[in-house]
Amino acid sequence: MQDYGMQEVAIQQGGHLEDAAAVYARRRFEGGSARHLAAMARFPASRRLELAPLRYLLPQGRSCLFDLFAGTGFASASIRSEFRGTFLLEPHVAAEDASIANSRRHRACALSAGSFDGLPAADLAVCLAGFHHVLGPGPAADRDSHRRQRLEALRLWGSRLAPSGRLVIADVPLAGTDVGWLSGDPSGLLPTEPSAGAAGDEAPLADALRRRGIEDYLAALTARCDELDLGQPEPSAFFDHVVAEQSPYGHVACFDSPQELADMFREAGYEHVRAFVAPTPWLFPSKADAVWFVRELLGIGQPCDRPSALKTAEVDSLGTDIRTHLDLRQVSEGVWAVAWKLMYVMGERP
Ligand SMILES: C[S@@+](CC[C@H](N)C(=O)[O-])C[C@H]1O[C@@H](n2cnc3c(N)ncnc32)[C@H](O)[C@@H]1O
Repeated sequence: MQDYGMQEVAIQQGGHLEDAAAVYARRRFEGGSARHLAAMARFPASRRLELAPLRYLLPQGRSCLFDLFAGTGFASASIRSEFRGTFLLEPHVAAEDASIANSRRHRACALSAGSFDGLPAADLAVCLAGFHHVLGPGPAADRDSHRRQRLEALRLWGSRLAPSGRLVIADVPLAGTDVGWLSGDPSGLLPTEPSAGAAGDEAPLADALRRRGIEDYLAALTARCDELDLGQPEPSAFFDHVVAEQSPYGHVACFDSPQELADMFREAGYEHVRAFVAPTPWLFPSKADAVWFVRELLGIGQPCDRPSALKTAEVDSLGTDIRTHLDLRQVSEGVWAVAWKLMYVMGERP
């Protein structure tokens, strides 16, 4: 097994790095990234249900994995051991993680073709919570300009995949998107049971997580989240109405529906496109932990270094905002959940 070792490669300044969207993203993430890292470091497993669907989407080839818009490398963490080598593409210095085997942090803009020079073709490229930041140079509301930029990104990433390599984009869907299977028949292409790298035994959701096949998994998890009253979160509304208004770094983003994104995949030349929306609640030991994590991960209000330093009024105030757009409730003994959902769109290079 080849070990790529940990190396840093100089930031690539070519391509799109200097255009308006990239400069915006860079500033925003420079401001908020320390808080994002601190949140992920304190509760590294709270978002683990976002990773569970990836176990159903792995390709046959397992040589090289790209983690695009990698942040701490969270998206690739649970599947990295299945691949010979992993490259984390992320322009900002993130938590150095020398313990990650077979991976290399590539300090680079994932939207710049030059960033991929010298890297092997990928069997799988994953982009978690990054695509809504791929914006065109027009004003914030210019969806056509954003769409053109996104198509370009999809084409670039497709050109860096091995034959039959897969791209998976996992992101917040446009408001109003229901959970469930949306596009393409899973049979004959996706594994009928999840690969290794299980998300763990999540007491209140464990039965759903043991299900075979992605449709079965989705149906069971959706039913369980409905029972727990975690059924109808709108993360995009939370970004638009809470993060954008209460973050010192602002929040400019464009959210797609899974259908729109699946169409873009096809237009960019991908085959066997599959799209679905999964409930992905975040789990915490207490209400204050949950509120603190949301606040620091998304850069809301002023930085706060630990949950116990939050005032009761601050917990209650953001807790109310979370309940309005997402949900926040105790789902079992010692487990609090923030309701969340993500769309997953997967396509293959012919
Ligand atoms: C919302 S975070 C998601 C991080 C990680 N994927 C996760 O889910 O925890 C978005 C990340 O994208 C990075 N980013 C922003 N623009 C980028 C670009 N052009 N190329 C690569 N990464 C970028 C940011 O620095 C930030 O770490």
